[in-house]
Amino acid sequence: MRETSVIKVLVILVEKIVVSIGGSVLIPGEDDPSYIRKLADMLTDASKIVSLVIICGGGKISRYYVNTGRQLGGSVDELDMMGIGATRLNAELLRIALGGAAYNGVPNTVDEAVSAFADGKIVVMGGTEPGHTTDAVAAMIAGKIGGIRIVNATAVDAVYSDDPKKDPNAKRFSNLTIKELSNIVYAEHDAGRSSVFDPLGVKLAMRDRIDILMVDGRDIDELKNAILGKKIKGTTVSSQ
Ligand code: UTP
Repeated sequence: MRETSVIKVLVILVEKIVVSIGGSVLIPGEDDPSYIRKLADMLTDASKIVSLVIICGGGKISRYYVNTGRQLGGSVDELDMMGIGATRLNAELLRIALGGAAYNGVPNTVDEAVSAFADGKIVVMGGTEPGHTTDAVAAMIAGKIGGIRIVNATAVDAVYSDDPKKDPNAKRFSNLTIKELSNIVYAEHDAGRSSVFDPLGVKLAMRDRIDILMVDGRDIDELKNAILGKKIKGTTVSSQ
């Protein structure tokens, strides 16, 4: 069998995992290069066991452009396009750190990501089109590649009933069903708060029966455990 065919067979056999990594985890402005280096090394290791697509969020860079563009009268789509630009810049940082372990380029669309994935390398990307966030992109790609779980690497260590920084009595969840997560994100959405996971992403994960693991992305061991399907300290959202 030719080498490319062997790679394609291996890609079909191993577990496919999509990681949605928040911009606040990737570029908080504290030791960013050393964190991104450690993250890249861990992902390279993990990619010997599972196949990976990594979707990077925009964080403070996207907020800067979206807020500044809004003050200058930008339309919602124009602001979203700048947000997407920031997510793609962050993806470039991680892709550079991954070197030869990563697919050589940042896909623009879900379809481009799916064909890049067939190469057998780690695919790193950001947002795709206006109207949603990178969490939703993670769910779209997981659905298309037959992903069994989405790992959401955030700045919070689990899902809580309320913002734990504002309410010390907020309940911490170790396990949720995807229906329960859906109730939480829609309540947050109605209250105008930023969701723990994009409601569209939750809807797609529910439809395609994909589990979501919510973990502290700055804890590299925790993130690796989530990627490899081992026990985690964060929240396991079961889609079954
Ligand atoms: P993020 O995915 O980082 O969204 O995309 P977020 O919810 O603001 O970030 P976190 O998860 O709380 O850190 C940044 C922005 O880019 C645009 C949206 O405006 C989004 O808010 N975007 C991103 C899109 O329009 N489409 C995409 O596919 C991705």
